[in-house]
Amino acid sequence: MKRFKIAQILNDPAIGEKVEVKGWVRAFRSNRFIQLSDGSTIKTLQAVVDFEQMDEATLKKVTTAAAICVQGELVASQGSGQAVELQVESLEIIGEANPDDVQRTVMQPKKHSLEFLREQAHLRFRTNTFGAVFRIRHAVSFAIHKFFNDRGFYYIHTPIITGSDAEGAGEMFRVSTLDPKNPPLNEDGSVNYKEDFFGKAVNLTVSGQLEAELAALALGQVYTFGPTFRAENSNTSRHLAEFWMIEPEVAFNDIHDNMDLAEDMLKYICQYVMDNCPDDLQFLHERDAAEQQTKPQHERNELGLIDRLKFITENPFERITYTKAIEVLRNSNHYKKKKFQYEVEWGTDLQSEHERYLVEKEYKRPVIITDYPASFKAFYMRRNDNAEPGKETVAAMDILFPGIGEMVGGSQREERLDVLKEKCAAFHIPEEDLWWYLDTRKFGTVPHAGFGLGFERMVMFVTGMTNIRDVIPFPRTPLNAEF
Ligand code: 4AD
Ligand code: MG
Repeated sequence: MKRFKIAQILNDPAIGEKVEVKGWVRAFRSNRFIQLSDGSTIKTLQAVVDFEQMDEATLKKVTTAAAICVQGELVASQGSGQAVELQVESLEIIGEANPDDVQRTVMQPKKHSLEFLREQAHLRFRTNTFGAVFRIRHAVSFAIHKFFNDRGFYYIHTPIITGSDAEGAGEMFRVSTLDPKNPPLNEDGSVNYKEDFFGKAVNLTVSGQLEAELAALALGQVYTFGPTFRAENSNTSRHLAEFWMIEPEVAFNDIHDNMDLAEDMLKYICQYVMDNCPDDLQFLHERDAAEQQTKPQHERNELGLIDRLKFITENPFERITYTKAIEVLRNSNHYKKKKFQYEVEWGTDLQSEHERYLVEKEYKRPVIITDYPASFKAFYMRRNDNAEPGKETVAAMDILFPGIGEMVGGSQREERLDVLKEKCAAFHIPEEDLWWYLDTRKFGTVPHAGFGLGFERMVMFVTGMTNIRDVIPFPRTPLNAEF
C-alpha cells in the first residue's frame, strides 16, 4: 500500500483510496478517534478505529506521543473539523511512548510554556508552535537562496575557522588544540600560538564579509549564508552566541543600490512566507493575537502578524541619515520630557530605546539609517567625502524593524587603498594580518557594497516569536549548550 504524507492527503483528498500513513499520536479520544501528526503540516489526520475489530493490547499502546502506522480507506468525514478521515483497517505500533515520561512532560496540565519547552530537547519539535516555527524557518532559508539565485548571485562558503576579526569587536571564541593546563609560552608569558594547530591564533568567525569581498571582486555578486559566532555576554531576547547570517556582497554597488537590494530581499521574504506557509502563519497569527491580549494596552502591536508582513511588502521603508535621526530624537517630546535613559548627542551610538522610538513611534515602519559617525562603525566602511572637521561619517546603513531593532547592518566598503590603510592604523589593525584583504584594493579595485541579515531576527519577525531562542532549534547563549 502506498504511503502518504498527511499534507498530501489533506491538500488533495483522494476519497475512496487505500493509503498508509505513519506518524505520532497527538490524541486518542473515546477509544475511537486518533489525531495523527507527521510533521508535513500543522494539521492532524483523523484516523478512526473500530475498537471491536482491534486487538486490545495494541489499542492500549495508542497513547499520546507513540509512533504508529495505519492503513485503511480515506472517507469523507462525518464530524466537523476535517473534510476527510482514515477508516483504519490495520494498525501497527512502531514506537511506544513510555507512560511515565509522557505524564511528566507531554501531559503537563498547564499549557507548555516556551521556557519549559526550551529544556525539553525533543518535545519542543512536537508542539504546534515549534512545528510551525521550524517549517517557516526552512521556508525563509529557501526563499533567501531563491531570491539570490534568481538574481544571478553565487553562494560562497566562507570559512568558519578564521584568523580575522572582521567586525573589530574582539568578541570571539578561540579555536585551539593546545593543552589549556600547559600551553607553550612566549618569553613574556603569553601563549605561543605558533605551536598551535594552525601556527597562529584563530577563532570562530564573526562574519564572512571580508572573504565574501574577495569573491565579489571577481564573481561580481555573491552571498554567504552560514553560522556566525559572537562571544558577547549579552543575555537578551535578540542575541545568540551562535546565529546564522546572510551576507550579500556586490561589485559596483553603492550605498543606495545596497539599500534597494536589502529592502527588496526583506519584502521578498515576507511575501514568500505569506504565499507558501498559509497554515503555519495563520496558527502563529492567532497565537500572536492571544499573546497580545496578555500585554498592557500600550505595549500591544497595532497590527496582527499577517498585517505586519503585508505592511512590510506594501510600504517603502523610511530612509534617514544618522544626523537627521539625532535631530528628530532631540526634537521629540519624549526627549524634552527626559524619557530617554541614554543621551542623544551627535557622535554617540544610538541605543535600542532610540531605535525603537524612531521605528515604533515616529515613523511606524522599518527605518534605514545611513551615514553614521566613523568613530563607532567598522574599519572597512567607506569614508564619506566633504565631512566637517570632527564630524567624519561613513557610508553605513542599519535597517531597524519594529519589535526587533537592528535587522540588517551593512555599508559601502572603503575601496581606496590609502584611506583603508589610514583606517587600519586608526583601529590598530596590523596591515600584515590583513594583507590578503588589502591586496584587493591593488588589483582593479572598485566601489562595492554589502550587508548582513541576522537570519534568526528575520525568522522572529515573520513568526511573531519574541525570544530569539525560540526560532533556532538548539539555541546557544551564555551558560547554555546542553544539547
Ligand atoms: O551588524 P553586524 O555586526 O554586521 C556584520 O557582521 C557585517 N559584517 C555585515 C556585512 O556588512 N556583511 O551583524 C549583521 C546582523 C545584525 O544586523 C543582526 O541582525 C545580526 O547580524 N546579529 C545577531 N543576531 C543574533 N545574535 C547576535 N549576537 C547578533 N549579532 C548580530
Ligand atoms: Mg550592526
